[in-house]
Amino acid sequence: MHVSTVTTTPFVGQRPGTSGLRKKVKVFQEQHYLENFVQATLNTLGDVAGQTLVVGGDGRFYNREAIQIILRMAAAHGFKRVLVGQDGILSTPATSCVIRKYDALGGFILSASHNPAGPDEDFGIKYNVNNGGPAPESFTENIYHNTTSITSYRILEGVADIDLSQQGEVQLGDMQIQIIDAVTDYAELMQEIFDFPAIKDLLAHDFSIAFDAMSAVTGPYAQVIFEDILGAPQGTVMNGEALEDFGGGHPDPNLTYAKDLVDKMYADDAPDFGAASDGDGDRNMILGNRFFVNPSDSLAVLAANAHLVKGYQGGISGVARSMPTSGAVDKVAEKLGLECFETPTGWKFFGNLMDAGRVTLCGEESFGTGSDHVREKDGLWAVLFWLNILAVRQESVESILVSHWSEFGRNFYSRHDYEAVDSAAAQQVMDTVRSNFAQLQGQQLAGRNVRLCDDFSYTDPIDASISSGQGLRILFADGSRIIFRLSGTGTAGATIRIYLESFEQDPTQHGLDAQDALADLIAAADSISNLKSLTGREKPSVIT
Ligand code: G1P
Ligand code: ZN
Repeated sequence: MHVSTVTTTPFVGQRPGTSGLRKKVKVFQEQHYLENFVQATLNTLGDVAGQTLVVGGDGRFYNREAIQIILRMAAAHGFKRVLVGQDGILSTPATSCVIRKYDALGGFILSASHNPAGPDEDFGIKYNVNNGGPAPESFTENIYHNTTSITSYRILEGVADIDLSQQGEVQLGDMQIQIIDAVTDYAELMQEIFDFPAIKDLLAHDFSIAFDAMSAVTGPYAQVIFEDILGAPQGTVMNGEALEDFGGGHPDPNLTYAKDLVDKMYADDAPDFGAASDGDGDRNMILGNRFFVNPSDSLAVLAANAHLVKGYQGGISGVARSMPTSGAVDKVAEKLGLECFETPTGWKFFGNLMDAGRVTLCGEESFGTGSDHVREKDGLWAVLFWLNILAVRQESVESILVSHWSEFGRNFYSRHDYEAVDSAAAQQVMDTVRSNFAQLQGQQLAGRNVRLCDDFSYTDPIDASISSGQGLRILFADGSRIIFRLSGTGTAGATIRIYLESFEQDPTQHGLDAQDALADLIAAADSISNLKSLTGREKPSVIT
């Protein structure tokens, strides 16, 4: 066993995006590819001697190989101890929980979130810092600069692979590896926050639930939490076995991809409550019996009902949402007298606000909701939060939403995604929208007055860092919005996202369907972007 310094050359494009570095597995399998990125991260960290590191992933194809490489590089750099989930498994929120609980320097998360997995699909890696949250932009930029000039990496050689299938301690050189149960620490944290006996009681009294783990990482967590601890019947967890290729599926909890759950929740004998999570466990979709809860509304409902939940009884300090997320939570904040922040897309922007104690709850329209219990969005946490509210209020999901809207008004909301569009065409769509800005300002569009058109820019209230170019906004005088943004997480071509919103104080003037209520804005979005003819697409790939 010896530490080797291996000569290498830079790869082009190892720039971490919204959620780390994501590429095809085949790219990660190229010689030195993963090693270069890990070394660039370790260079950014500097002296790590004596520190603790956390490593885990969503179990997708190449997870095991990647973990062995990271362990040997960590040992070569003098880490004192590494905590690894058994079989290399840790959901993203569980990793955040473990980093915080054991005061680790940080952790590597191996995941490409909801992107499909398997030898021909996606892999990803990201580094989370000591607060348990994604590394800030200055840190990831530093990693990127390191990747462009790297000449060597350091790794322990002449050692066998570590057996990660048994919990316990093993030595790797001078470094101690602790293989921990993936679920225990996380499940303990959930029991501190939520009233498990009340939820157990709800589930024991004719209240049925279904949870779709989509053959990804939340399967083992959901089985322990819902079936073992909360006593839900066996089979409550659908697609509960975490598979290396996620069963060939696309584990993104939305109405298109979580088809098994949606079919079940819209069937004649639908359960009272349904939920799904994504590949790495940070997203959530909430459904009632034949009823879809828009994620923006879900955040607002959690904020309005937080006082009913043990962990938030003392009150919440403030709320935050990403810019494209609907303003439903703003209405709640206004009424409760809470600070409300509007940040760019991506969870990393919430970290500073939470660390400073300014924000307790935060969320994104993209099925991400969370709180300051960890520094990642957290799928199962959101599901438990809903169940806790349902246990206290003893109402249906639909009735909770309807009474929420009658109290706060309703933000009709939808997101239209055009996936895997030709990159040049996507750029043309954005340029077309921007070129219309000057002439739209102060004019009528979709029967409303345009108040302002801009490209969203954010100044972090804590560290004053500026993030510009975060999405093209058309803001109307009546509070409606149309937003155009290019995805930062796709791996094939470009994905155009159009976010549409209108506010109604009295939502009973409309039916329940958001697409109907937003029809004029949807048509306007097409006309000012020329999207259909520029991309050749007739309709969105996904409508939320
Ligand atoms: C998407 C979501 C965004 C989320 C990110 C990571 O990013 O839209 O809200 O933070 O995934 O889960 P996008 O592809 O839009 O850049
Ligand atoms: Zn995810």
